[in-house]
Amino acid sequence: MQGVHIIGTGSYVPKRVLTNFDLEQMIDTSDEWILSRTGIRERCLADKDEAASDMAYQASLVALDDAKVPPGEVDLLVVATVTPDTPFPSTACHLQRHLGASRAAAFDVGAACTGFVYGLSVAEQYLRTGRYRTILVVGVEVLSRIVDWTDRNTCILFGDGAGAAVLQASEDTSRGLLATFLHADGGMADHLIMYGGGSRHPISEEVLHRRLHFLRMRGNETFKIAVRTMIKASLEALDQHGYRVEDVDLFIPHQANGRIVEAVSKRLGIPDEKVFVNIERYGNTSAASIPIALDEALRSGRVKEGDLVLLIGVGAGLTWGSALFRW
Ligand code: COA
Repeated sequence: MQGVHIIGTGSYVPKRVLTNFDLEQMIDTSDEWILSRTGIRERCLADKDEAASDMAYQASLVALDDAKVPPGEVDLLVVATVTPDTPFPSTACHLQRHLGASRAAAFDVGAACTGFVYGLSVAEQYLRTGRYRTILVVGVEVLSRIVDWTDRNTCILFGDGAGAAVLQASEDTSRGLLATFLHADGGMADHLIMYGGGSRHPISEEVLHRRLHFLRMRGNETFKIAVRTMIKASLEALDQHGYRVEDVDLFIPHQANGRIVEAVSKRLGIPDEKVFVNIERYGNTSAASIPIALDEALRSGRVKEGDLVLLIGVGAGLTWGSALFRW
């Protein structure tokens, strides 16, 4: 079996920033309420003509440059998103065209906020077995297109962005990606869902009238489940490798809500300096949140060679999972 290494990362967020104060002008809310309940101050929103593959392209260029890999050497493109450019073909195919990654196979994975961890796990299988050598995994979302901007329960939470990682197989199995763990519980599908636009409720006047083309969330239940599953996902990854919480140098959780991350850290006894948090600036960017955080952690020197790094995802589905690295 081959070792699997992240050899380059990149991220991109749109230029337009929507602050909590801007939201005060749009809905009945306040900066104080949003900040104290979520830890979010602002989020970035895509331009009208900016689609998922455009943002994925920007993040991918940075990641490929960081990895010193030309697009033509990529064997597979995996894009995690719930806000694709088009229902079909996949956003990965649109990205392949933008990049000119002509020899790469391309497909999307749909695991909502856990999408990037799912994408890493898919890539891991192809790389370990030697089927492919170089894989680009991207998490990208344009959630601003499916958020109901009149619903104060949800619109304050989400933002747009993209993050990318270039993974490569190598003989070195002593470090790199140690393992990924994936889970799902479809029994909780209704907790966070967009009902309209699929084959059950195709776009129609009725769907638009009932506002089914926007995401819906049961905030309170989702909050509690997110805390529980993130703890489970963290402990599973560590237990299976004989590590304890204190062995981890950096936790990079999905940036769902600052209070969720705080609750997980508190219950696991993780000190603040070992948890990467950037939700203040981006909100919840779903599949993009972990790769943006990972890219920022690497670029700001928060990860050193030899560090144990744990990525933890949770999202709609319900889906959850983790990826453990020895950097
Ligand atoms: N501004 C001001 N008040 C708001 C508000 C807003 N943006 N949104 C809701 N409220 C009000 C509610 O109407 C409610 O008022 P009421 O008591 O008069 O009915 C009150 O604030 C409390 O609402 P509640 O839903 O209990 O707040 P909360 O503390 O649970 O916070 C969330 C709401 C959405 C921030 C929180 O539940 C959450 O983050 N859930 C998880 C979401 C998530 O992470 N999803 C993605 C998972 S991958």
